[in-house]
Amino acid sequence: MPSDAEDPVTQQILISGVAGFIGFHLAKRLLAANMQVVGIDNLNDYYDPALKRARLAQLQQLDGDFVFHQMDLADAPALSKLFAHNAFDRVVHLAAQAGVRYSLQNPQAYVQSNLVGFANLLEAVRQAQTPHLLFASSSSVYGLNTHTPFAEAQRTDAPISLYAATKKSNEVMAFTYSHLFDLPMTGLRFFTVYGPWGRPDMAYWRFTEKILRGEPIPVFNEGQLARDFTYIDDIVEGIVGLLDHIPDKVAAPQSQAQAPYVLYNLGHHQPVALLTFIQTLARLLGRPPQLQMLPMQPGDVLTTHADITAIQQRIGWQAQTSLESGLAAFVAWYQDYFDV
Ligand SMILES: NC(=O)c1ccc[n+]([C@@H]2O[C@H](COP(=O)([O-])OP(=O)(O)OC[C@H]3O[C@@H](n4cnc5c(N)ncnc54)[C@H](O)[C@@H]3O)[C@@H](O)[C@H]2O)c1
Repeated sequence: MPSDAEDPVTQQILISGVAGFIGFHLAKRLLAANMQVVGIDNLNDYYDPALKRARLAQLQQLDGDFVFHQMDLADAPALSKLFAHNAFDRVVHLAAQAGVRYSLQNPQAYVQSNLVGFANLLEAVRQAQTPHLLFASSSSVYGLNTHTPFAEAQRTDAPISLYAATKKSNEVMAFTYSHLFDLPMTGLRFFTVYGPWGRPDMAYWRFTEKILRGEPIPVFNEGQLARDFTYIDDIVEGIVGLLDHIPDKVAAPQSQAQAPYVLYNLGHHQPVALLTFIQTLARLLGRPPQLQMLPMQPGDVLTTHADITAIQQRIGWQAQTSLESGLAAFVAWYQDYFDV
């Protein structure tokens, strides 16, 4: 654990997407630190809602101050009512339609949750004058940028999927609200997060299923891909560490527009080749992988690699969990959860 990621002193925290992978882990961590957590989620069926309900059941079993509301961010009146009845010290916005590939099949889901829903959330934060909004962005905003590691100051106006475009839009929408209404906001660019209670739509989960069933794993771009895989506990410590670091009001690069707004990469800073990843996972599962080499898929990026200088300087954060131990924790959880 980073030494200065101490428990924050804030009281009531709203987590959107609390039944999701990252939201669940964050809620658990904050409840353990005696925070009041209010969670919202629409429990949609993009992946099996039973897993979302199982995460919620875990949270509800804990001895903590946790309240859940099933709610869609696109429902502006419901959101506004929630903010009128609570005075959140922090809002951590994680709800979104995630997934790069699905954004080629169902763009409307991304427009609804990530654009309409995000605009509603910004309005609610503005009305309530929430002291700090932290919101999920993604490494996908870097698209096919050629300069690695990816640093926050790089241009990110060439996203190559609608998912990435909505995340980039969130960043600029948030900047505008932060500037206009002097609202402190922190954008979190997560890099391929994995771990127990993870996401069934993500590659590491699908690889696990295929390895266990003895089925061939589709390996895109013939394995010439790399990802900066980041373990969930490291991500959670990064978010917790930033909760009470209200961004300074500064001018945006090459602009006179000032805002209490900042963006951080949260990534392991150690990209792993896809084939190495698959081999490590297969070894931990005790089964040899079968590989099916395939060409590059539209929307996919070649590599991700986080420059973490900014968050390191701000809160001394860096990822602590090796791929080996993170994947071992995932495999142990998966085998237990599915009894395999
Ligand atoms: N997991 C990763 O590797 C990763 C990487 C980069 C960015 N992110 C971002 O981090 C955030 C959390 O991701 P996650 O991996 O926990 O995903 P997740 O899909 O497990 O969690 C998102 C949750 O939001 C809920 N949700 C979606 N649309 C909603 C809406 N309109 N109203 C209310 N709830 C809604 C879903 O039901 C889900 O439970 C997302 O914004 C995602 O885009 C994740």
